[in-house]
Amino acid sequence: MKHLLKLADWTTEEIIATLDLADKLKYEKKNGIEHHILKGKTLGMIFSKSSTRTRVSFEVGMYDLGGSALFLSHRDLQIGRGEPIKDTARVLSRFIDGIMIRTFDQADVETLAEYGSIPIINGLTDYCHPCQVLADLQTIREHKGSLEGKKLCYIGDGNNMANSLIVGGIKTGMKVAIACPKDYQPDAEIMKWASENGDFLCTDDILLAAADSDVLYTDVWASMGQESEAEERKKIFKNYQINDSVIAVSKDDVMVLHCLPAHREEEITAKVFEEHANEIFDEAENRLHAQKAVLVKCFTE
Ligand code: CP
Ligand code: NVA
Repeated sequence: MKHLLKLADWTTEEIIATLDLADKLKYEKKNGIEHHILKGKTLGMIFSKSSTRTRVSFEVGMYDLGGSALFLSHRDLQIGRGEPIKDTARVLSRFIDGIMIRTFDQADVETLAEYGSIPIINGLTDYCHPCQVLADLQTIREHKGSLEGKKLCYIGDGNNMANSLIVGGIKTGMKVAIACPKDYQPDAEIMKWASENGDFLCTDDILLAAADSDVLYTDVWASMGQESEAEERKKIFKNYQINDSVIAVSKDDVMVLHCLPAHREEEITAKVFEEHANEIFDEAENRLHAQKAVLVKCFTE
């Protein structure tokens, strides 16, 4: 059994093995080959925030693998009325075989793992989004053939996506450049680690970050839980957009990714989004294949 609390906990070899398994599961699904590797297993999915892709990919993923999934909204669980996470962890460990949780505080995910006795998978916190980045790396590898040496540029808020992209990118040998306003940089410890372990740049110069990129990536300016800051953030982030000027300084065959949901004309223009829609929706599809690989790894290793 293993957890996926954050990508930093996984070695490069574990990440690459997960991508390889995701590719295999994708090929098999497309060719009608079924693998009920998780027959009889149940995943509990705790959600304290909205979700389309994460919920559906894990639910369908468990079904594909022969198991089942329970959607557990924090509003309905006793967590919503103050039952401690550490008690929830011990109770659910006696009923089900694994938990995927989407919440605010990374500490809650770590507490589930500490007190529970089943695999815990992070389906997004304010700190990171490891499952998304595994799907992103799968998509980049599919389109570009390899990850090593490719330049990934993220433009926007130094948020959960930025944190996980830095870790996933550096661990797989990519060059990572982040363009964000000075007061909205990614986690300081992650940036320090990235500078010491790979080719990493964080700047407020968007075109410098984007120069010669193989992959451009962006995410919303206001994440879930930051709705009250949305108007202020629109002013702060207004230049932090993937548009034709950013595409122009990138490699001719640059690919564009977005974890979704996207806000057109904010972090990405509608034109660039539609021109790169195939890549963006391949990325969304790969949530299913990558999440199935995560489930197999966490449940069976
Ligand atoms: N990208 C992502 O995690 O999507 P959802 O919020 O729809 O799960
Ligand atoms: N940064 C975004 C990612 C959504 C998938 C959020 O946390 O809302």
